[in-house]
Amino acid sequence: MVNVTVNKTKLSLIVGDITKQNTDAIVNAANSSLLGGGGVDGAIHRAGGPQILEECKKIRARQGGCKTGEAVITTGGNLPARYVIHTVGPIWSGGNNNEPDLLANCYKNSLKLAVENGIKTVSFPSISTGAYGYPIDQAATVALKAVIDFLRNDDSLEEVIFVLFNEAIYKSYENALKEIGLIS
Ligand code: APR
Repeated sequence: MVNVTVNKTKLSLIVGDITKQNTDAIVNAANSSLLGGGGVDGAIHRAGGPQILEECKKIRARQGGCKTGEAVITTGGNLPARYVIHTVGPIWSGGNNNEPDLLANCYKNSLKLAVENGIKTVSFPSISTGAYGYPIDQAATVALKAVIDFLRNDDSLEEVIFVLFNEAIYKSYENALKEIGLIS
């Protein structure tokens, strides 16, 4: 467990299951169809129930799906979290197809949407580092720099938590935080 303060927001790293977090919102690593999938997407839809998919379908009807790097918001359904913010990470294809910026946009657009909805506490998974194959150490640095940069410019949020599914992923994020210089 790591806790640091960035501007006025607590930034934490924990090992856990994001579907169990009772932050105001949890972020889903979705795909552009918004129709669910495996990994954290599957876990969130399973735990949150059909209302989440119903709202995703309404968003699809309005705007098609969700572009890579962008974010949409739905109810949390049966989850402890009131909202799910769905964002679509980049599929890793070697690192020269704008993957770092697109991944950073996932975090920034999710936090922007949270602030716009009066949300105070947000949990993130490690976006794109599962099925989408983004190398974990590079993703951790991009993710943390994006969140820290956002928090340095906007103090509306009380807490942002990275909920990492196992020790190895947690270690990558902890090392990235050390490299950035926020922890020793
Ligand atoms: N809580 C927290 N983290 C989780 C959980 C969970 N319950 N389940 C999986 N993870 C972690 C994985 O270990 C990985 O570190 O989430 C991270 C992201 O992995 P994926 O869920 O595979 O997401 P991603 O790599 O962004 O791929 C997205 O996979 O599930 C499909 O529909 C989704 O097509 C999309 C693609």
